[in-house]
Amino acid sequence: MGSQSLSFFSITLLLFVMIQAVFADLKHKSTSPFEYLQHLHGCHKGENVKDIHKLKKYLEKFGYLSYKNKTHVDDDDFDELLESAVRTYQLNYNMKATGSLDANTLSKMMRPRCSVADIVNGTSRMRSSRKRHHHSGSKLFHTVSHYSFFDGQPRWPASKYSLTFAFLPGTRADAINPVSRAFQTWAENTHFRFSRTEDYVNADIRVSFESGEHGDGSSFDGPGGTLAHAFAPTNGTFHYDADEEWSVIANPGAYHLETLALHEIGHLLGLGHSSIEGAIMYPTFSLGETKGLHGDDIQGVNALYNL
Ligand SMILES: *[C@@H]1O[C@H](CO)[C@@H](O)[C@H](O)[C@H]1NC(C)=O
Ligand SMILES: *[C@@H]1O[C@H](CO)[C@@H](O)[C@H](O)[C@H]1NC(C)=O
Ligand SMILES: *[C@@H]1O[C@H](CO)[C@@H](O)[C@H](O)[C@H]1NC(C)=O
Ligand SMILES: [Zn+2]
Ligand SMILES: [Zn+2]
Repeated sequence: MGSQSLSFFSITLLLFVMIQAVFADLKHKSTSPFEYLQHLHGCHKGENVKDIHKLKKYLEKFGYLSYKNKTHVDDDDFDELLESAVRTYQLNYNMKATGSLDANTLSKMMRPRCSVADIVNGTSRMRSSRKRHHHSGSKLFHTVSHYSFFDGQPRWPASKYSLTFAFLPGTRADAINPVSRAFQTWAENTHFRFSRTEDYVNADIRVSFESGEHGDGSSFDGPGGTLAHAFAPTNGTFHYDADEEWSVIANPGAYHLETLALHEIGHLLGLGHSSIEGAIMYPTFSLGETKGLHGDDIQGVNALYNL
């Protein structure tokens, strides 16, 4: 093979790889269940726009909205209640609480995320309380943001600090090490100890990959959208969305198994979502993103267990 045909070959290969990447990207984007949000740019109170009802369902799912009159959930009216839910969302994510759908708010809402609600039962917030300081006549707003707990602060009993975990038989083998490492990381930073057992039925914590509707009242939504969830103590259930691309090593086309495990274990121990972006308990994740525990996460567990 001459050098000319060799370079022709490499250029063809390069083009092929680039086209593949573009198509993979397009495919991913067009299948995101949160895609409809993009068309709501600029919407505000008083408007009636197609797909507003989907935004209402979204904000209900994540704990921001609860209509007493259920007929309003299905209409496309941007009403008072929706505006106040958007405001609360913006406060939780440290954005300006305008109550309207600006580009910042929508791009945050469109990010793939954990499917556990940010506000549980309307009583607990992601605690991004804004403290008001009076300072030479002008008002300064200082944001104090940190960890949160589930409603009623459920936790494991004090005697139960040594927990077992198991994988559903048949679980993809490459998930075992990343999940085990995530448990190890939490053990190094808390009073908890974790050990793996083969006894799935009797384990304190059960890990599996599930798809779509899977019987626990919190269905997954295909590629993108919601990625994983886990329940508050002492339920012990941890589900990954089986329809996502998952990876053991950081990979720009997949979600990182260990990072999501760190997050979901936080829920299993009793943490809710945090509004600190660097915290593992921050609700959103990107393809290829890797993250570790943050001081906020460790303080949260210590506060919950009075340590
Ligand atoms: C709910 O809202 C609809 C539309 O505004 C209204 O017709 C209906 O009477 C309301 N139902 C209740 C129980 O308030
Ligand atoms: C939600 O709050 C209501 C009233 O405060 C309470 O009766 C109910 O048990 C709570 N539900 C959960 C799941 O915590
Ligand atoms: C955990 O909670 C889910 C959702 O409420 C429920 O379907 C499941 O049965 C619970 N599992 C246990 C072991 O309590
Ligand atoms: Zn979560
Ligand atoms: Zn589930």
